[in-house]
Amino acid sequence: MKNILFLVGSLRRDSLNMRLARVAAQNLPEGYQATFFDLKDVPMYNDDLRGEHSPEGVQRLREALRSTDGVFWTAPEYNFALPGIVKNALDWASRPLLPRHSFVGLPMNAAVATISATNGIRSLNDLKRIWSSCGGFTVTTFDFVLQLAPSKLVEESGFETLEPVSLDKLRLAIGHFVRAVEGDVGAVVTANWVAFVESQP
Ligand SMILES: Cc1cc2nc3c(=O)[nH]c(=O)nc-3n(C[C@H](O)[C@H](O)[C@H](O)COP(=O)(O)O)c2cc1C
Repeated sequence: MKNILFLVGSLRRDSLNMRLARVAAQNLPEGYQATFFDLKDVPMYNDDLRGEHSPEGVQRLREALRSTDGVFWTAPEYNFALPGIVKNALDWASRPLLPRHSFVGLPMNAAVATISATNGIRSLNDLKRIWSSCGGFTVTTFDFVLQLAPSKLVEESGFETLEPVSLDKLRLAIGHFVRAVEGDVGAVVTANWVAFVESQP
């Protein structure tokens, strides 16, 4: 059984991005399970605490990243960028940098839900750029931005889903992502990272 860790970049009770994450989790193929990690347990970054003295929530986040096969982020766009809680989680997760931080080579895909009819893509691009720049592996399928999300997320007898066109697109994105996870796409990045560390005097 492979595991996909869902990280949601909104703490709001009725978060559209949490709803979207639930739909994505329900549409994982057979042989996959979803786990969720709540970012409310991650305090603001403090470099004095980067190592073994990191707060308990941070240690759990790193452990969740180290023990999963892939990560699926959903996050809103805040003021034309990714939300602070997402950046904060990425900062903690990327330290200690050496010999290998908690998401080196880990495949990641992301989706954005927004109330806007035109925005959202910047948050997705920020996430992809930061993840890849830090040594994670971003699966670059087409970009899934659920604009006008309140009109596209549907609750059916207590069950969260999407209107059919968006649901098809999401399933396609998940299909690409899962194939990348199966193919162990992050192995090359991890090997490069290890080779670099070992080459240091
Ligand atoms: C501080 C703030 C800034 C926002 N900026 C943007 C933005 O730049 N682009 C956008 O598409 N939506 C923006 N929104 C609206 C969000 O799309 C909307 O609040 C959405 O519901 C947030 O996701 P959530 O439901 O998962 O919390 C902003 C919302 C807040 C609170």
